[in-house]
Amino acid sequence: MSFARRARVAVFASGTGSNFEAMMNNTDREFDVVMLVCDKPKAHVIGKAASFGVETVILDPAKFPSKEAYETEIIEKLQRANVEWVALAGYMRLVGDTLLEAYENKIINIHPSLLPSFPGLNAPQQALEAGVKVSGVTIHYVDEGMDTGPIIAQEPVTVFPNDTEESLLQRIQQVEHVLYTRILSQITRS
Ligand code: GRF
Repeated sequence: MSFARRARVAVFASGTGSNFEAMMNNTDREFDVVMLVCDKPKAHVIGKAASFGVETVILDPAKFPSKEAYETEIIEKLQRANVEWVALAGYMRLVGDTLLEAYENKIINIHPSLLPSFPGLNAPQQALEAGVKVSGVTIHYVDEGMDTGPIIAQEPVTVFPNDTEESLLQRIQQVEHVLYTRILSQITRS
């Protein structure tokens, strides 16, 4: 039995929040999710965080004079809650220098393809259009680029001949929902 202190993690999300929900429900999770940061006031993930009693910070970037001001406010909230790690899960904006410097090597992202193939939006659709037989999931450190930071873990997902964007995304997300918690448990432990 381990008595190691559990890391304090904030999840950043803009949308549905299926990864957030899976993380919260995962009984093998070895870290605490202490905050949800959301940039979209109407996002579904906000209701999910409320149902789990997770503190939620909703900040609309349009209401700030600059990206730096927006991220400075986020950092203040993170530090007040003693957040040590940031996990992006469908956070639909690039992280800026302000946040990257405050949480150097402590921000990770999950992406629905085997990077460096198919970065950006609609990765499953990109995979279908390219005709690849295997796609998958990538977890990586976040840098200033779009889905470009050092890769931490990858898991393949077979593309079936009759796959649609929806069916492929669904199978990819089944993998995401297990892999993200496993990898976060590993890297936050060390
Ligand atoms: C996930 O597929 C993730 O890979 C991508 O955005 C999606 C978020 O989905 N970055 P959800 O909001 O967790 O359901």
